[in-house]
Amino acid sequence: MLSKTMEDALNEQLNKEMYSAYLYMAMSAHSTHIGLPGFANWFMVQYKEEMDHAMKIYRYINDQGGKVKLRAIDEPPSEFEDAMDMFQKTLKHEQFITKSIHELMDLAIQERDHATQIFLQWFVTEQIEEEGNDNEIIAKLELAGKEGNGLFMIDKELAARVYTPPAEAEE
Ligand code: FEO
Repeated sequence: MLSKTMEDALNEQLNKEMYSAYLYMAMSAHSTHIGLPGFANWFMVQYKEEMDHAMKIYRYINDQGGKVKLRAIDEPPSEFEDAMDMFQKTLKHEQFITKSIHELMDLAIQERDHATQIFLQWFVTEQIEEEGNDNEIIAKLELAGKEGNGLFMIDKELAARVYTPPAEAEE
C-alpha cells in the first residue's frame, strides 16, 4: 500500500526515467549522425536500460495497489557539441537522477514505508554504477583526446556494450 504522496513521487520518477530514455535515444541518434556508431550503440543500450527502470517503477506502483499516471515527456536536446559534451551532459543528468532517488528514499523513510525503501535500494546502487561508468568514459575522452585516433578507439570500445534484459525474477 502506497500513500498518495509516495504514489505521486513514484509516478514523477517514472516520468524522469522515461525522459532519461528519451535523452539517450537523442544522443544515440546524434552519434549515428556524426559517424560514431560505437557511441550510438552505447547510448541505445542506455536507452533500453532506462526503459527497464521506468517499467520497474510501473510494476511496483501496480503491485502496491497504486495507480500509474503517465505524464508528458519533455523534449530532449537534439544537438550536441561533440562526444565529450554528450557524456558531460549524461553525467550531469545522472547526478540529477541520483538526487531524485535519494529524495524518494528520504520520503520513504519519513513515511516509514519499508517496502518502498527496499524497492529503492536497487536504484541507489544502480546510480553508483551509472555515475561511475560516465566518469570512466569522460576520463578516457580527456586522456585520448576529443578527436582522431583516440576517439576512434573509444568508439570501438563502446561498440562492444551489450544490452542485458533484466532477470525474469525482476520483471
Ligand atoms: Fe535510470 Fe540512468 O537512471
